[in-house]
Amino acid sequence: MKRFGIIGCGLVSDFHGKAIQMSDKAELVGAADIKLERAQSFVEKYGGKAMSIDELISRDDIDVINVLTPNAYHEEYVVKAVRAGKHVLVEKPPEMTLEKTDNMIAEAEKAEVKLGVVLQCRFRKAIEAIKDAIDSGRFGRIIHADAYMKWYRPTEYYFRDSWRSSRSQGAGVIIQHAFHYIDLLHHLAGPVDKVFARIQNLAHPEVELEDTVIAILDYANGAQGLVQGSTALYPGTDIRIEINGQNGTAIMMGEKIITWKFKDERPEDESIRKIGVDAAMTAATGAADFGYYEHQWLIEDMVDAIENDRDPRITCVSARDTLATALAMYESGDTGKEAKVKR
Ligand SMILES: NC(=O)c1ccc[n+]([C@@H]2O[C@H](COP(=O)([O-])OP(=O)(O)OC[C@H]3O[C@@H](n4cnc5c(N)ncnc54)[C@H](O)[C@@H]3O)[C@@H](O)[C@H]2O)c1
Repeated sequence: MKRFGIIGCGLVSDFHGKAIQMSDKAELVGAADIKLERAQSFVEKYGGKAMSIDELISRDDIDVINVLTPNAYHEEYVVKAVRAGKHVLVEKPPEMTLEKTDNMIAEAEKAEVKLGVVLQCRFRKAIEAIKDAIDSGRFGRIIHADAYMKWYRPTEYYFRDSWRSSRSQGAGVIIQHAFHYIDLLHHLAGPVDKVFARIQNLAHPEVELEDTVIAILDYANGAQGLVQGSTALYPGTDIRIEINGQNGTAIMMGEKIITWKFKDERPEDESIRKIGVDAAMTAATGAADFGYYEHQWLIEDMVDAIENDRDPRITCVSARDTLATALAMYESGDTGKEAKVKR
């Protein structure tokens, strides 16, 4: 059992609140926000005490702090928290630049605390099955690894909070929405060496950012891939991850395995094909249309990592590679040239 504190009580905090509430391995001590009234309504729903950010960081009855502030406001709170000896789970992307991300990694190492990133889709059962099949060599050589995210967000979404329409503060389909699926490709087939991307605004002329990306990826292992990410495509359909290898193909749609076919059929394949049959939508049509249980698994993984003194499953070091790939997409989209991923 570990005790948690939350910084940033906006949209995603509900998933953390619910996940901690449902877990018997985590307890909520308190929550903070630059707008105290948001922390107040959060604790009314999920328990604990509302307090200032400084108080939350300095309390000695909190083991882990979840940093849930907008994308460009992670580093300051992560660094303060690790310096105070807290383990930290920071929402994705870890930050907006590699320099800030490196600083968070260095500070956490210096403080000898755990730093994990909330890329909860890696805990999805379908992704775990695909990853196991890759690691056990069932695909043979990976030839293609693709992500298709055809989502929709109405204009109001971008005006909900000021940072949501500001590229420098972390808005945009690559860094904000497709980031999870770029991360899954990195996790399954990465690292990525080079990208060639086209970024466009197809349906949200009121905001100055990309709502659509199409990118060609060259993986270090020789595989190729496509990322198609958009919030312009009404009404939004579930994401697809497609892995094609020499010896087999797996396709996940939302949380479901919709294709699972290998040259060597195995007894477990029948049950793998049933993964996700009862699942609901995964954020295709709205920012809060997904379940909290992947957050719960990720939070419980952090508890286990602390108790057994191991790394959390999603370290900031591994999320840094995903950020580097996302930043290379912006570079390529802006320059019109292929971009090398900085690692
Ligand atoms: N893992 C996921 O599936 C998922 C889903 C949604 C959002 N997120 C991530 O969670 C983080 C928060 O997103 P959100 O949608 O909850 O945002 P939000 O704007 O709804 O909430 C952010 C909260 O942080 C507070 N805050 C604290 N310090 C701040 C500061 N310095 N500047 C501005 N606001 C500050 C705001 O008052 C607000 O209550 C982002 O990094 C986002 O990418 C992750």
